[in-house]
Amino acid sequence: MKITVVGAGAVGATCADNIARKELADELVLLDIKEGIAEGKTLDMYQTASLLGFDTTLIGSTNDYTKTANSDVVVITSGLPRKPGMTREELIGVNAGIVKSVVENILQYSKNPIIVIISNPMDTMTYLTKSIAGLDKHRIIGMGGTLDSARFKCYLAKAMDVSINDISGTVIGGHGDTTMIPLKRLATYNGVPVSQFLDAETLDQVVADTMVGGATLTGLLGTSAWYAPGAAGAALVEAIVRDEKKIMACCVPLDGEYNQKDICLGVPVILGKNGWEKIIDYKLTEEEQATFNKSADAVRNMNAVLETLSL
Ligand code: 2OP
Repeated sequence: MKITVVGAGAVGATCADNIARKELADELVLLDIKEGIAEGKTLDMYQTASLLGFDTTLIGSTNDYTKTANSDVVVITSGLPRKPGMTREELIGVNAGIVKSVVENILQYSKNPIIVIISNPMDTMTYLTKSIAGLDKHRIIGMGGTLDSARFKCYLAKAMDVSINDISGTVIGGHGDTTMIPLKRLATYNGVPVSQFLDAETLDQVVADTMVGGATLTGLLGTSAWYAPGAAGAALVEAIVRDEKKIMACCVPLDGEYNQKDICLGVPVILGKNGWEKIIDYKLTEEEQATFNKSADAVRNMNAVLETLSL
């Protein structure tokens, strides 16, 4: 199994570190455009191998895509991160060009990879990748919902003061502060609806905190978060390479599912060795579907901006 992570910034390096620790790859390539960064980070990571007990071949590369040849899975994290006060959507002008060239370079050396997109605005970058890659739609996966669901579980566990591992929760829709939809109706504490433990006001606060989960961290850190985004990317890769058939919320091309088409948006999918293998229908209420449609409208408007860029 060969895995490439493009972008050795904080998110890419954290994702690669998790992939290495979990021994998901025989060969793991980390590539960055900045001279020496990927080589330095992979060497640093390999120096943890005897301490942490993993044995993965790690290869750092300064923009040499020949090193990525024949990758089975590629994670794209390239692009600018958010600064405090910025929305993910504001990054489209710069990041669309970067993601397009990364996808083209990758496909020159890997014919049929599964591509996981982390770069922002994630839903639009996934849509762009789908439009240019010419790959089977099941091989294109955006990471947003996995991260947002992890944040939803974090805020639920904090509000309830219980083990996060007893919490189940899913966030669908776009990966934007106003487009994501934490499904509070379906969140459970060991199978019991969380509404039996939290009053409506607290639950609404959890939903609100989840939606600005990334912005809160950007405010605290001065740049985008990396531990959870990197771990979310690696969790998706793990579900794929271990053929786990786990349900995770991912941004995938919709073709009528959830009443949407010609868009990539977050929905629950089963992940396995072929990428996302099936979309699960959570049977939204009328109100949830209306919110999902609004989210789709916002993401579609963002996708339309791609037409105005000279890519
Ligand atoms: C976040 O929400 C990087 O978009 C990512 O932190």
